[in-house]
Amino acid sequence: MIFAANFKMHHTRQSTAEYLDRLEALMEAAEYPFKVMVFPPATALQSSRDWITVGAQNAYPAKEGAYTGEIGLSQLEEFGIDTVLLGHSERRRILEESQEFIAEKFAFFAEQGLQIVYCVGEPLEVRQEGDEAVAEYLWEQFDGIDLDYERLIVAYEPVWAIGTGRAAKEEEIAATHAELRRRIKRPLLYGGSVNPLNIKAIAAIADVDGVLVGSASLDPESFHAMMSVVAPPQV
Ligand code: 13P
Repeated sequence: MIFAANFKMHHTRQSTAEYLDRLEALMEAAEYPFKVMVFPPATALQSSRDWITVGAQNAYPAKEGAYTGEIGLSQLEEFGIDTVLLGHSERRRILEESQEFIAEKFAFFAEQGLQIVYCVGEPLEVRQEGDEAVAEYLWEQFDGIDLDYERLIVAYEPVWAIGTGRAAKEEEIAATHAELRRRIKRPLLYGGSVNPLNIKAIAAIADVDGVLVGSASLDPESFHAMMSVVAPPQV
């Protein structure tokens, strides 16, 4: 199972270092069978820890160049960053990233061999049209994406469940992941208001291989609490 924390525009370089220290200490007490990833803001990128992979929330598809305000492969390499999150709905909607541009990023970072957490998710009006409309919408978000890329991890994050405190229902997650599983053999994460109270039920759904957590990951105690709910420490 994969536990991924997306800090979005929260935490600083200093507080990210403290977070990683604390999470490491909490994880040290238990031998979790989990793969753990943390995605801090670009200014807080730093080396991964023994059990925690640090990844980038976004990057520009070039090694370096005249791209004001962006970071590229050289900047990631300085910290040994080997994992990048692409296609998050906040970047698709707020920053108006097109599918074409996201696919260009995917192709670049796949060519470089990075692990890619690729996000998809439908808005509420599409969800209200039913499963078929959702499937159609989601598959369009895979246009230009190599589903067989061996270091691909997919995160299904319904837009209406992100930051709303209202996670998708178990049957909605199950149906959507089953649909994605038809063509994607790589790990499938669910994201959208995952918290210590609903993690157990979500983790138990077939075809849910992990979670991508925003708000409830910002405090290391809370993020760790989710791990201990799924795999209670042996005493
Ligand atoms: P929340 O957990 O705050 O709903 O955010 C989910 C998310 O967007 C993770 O990428």
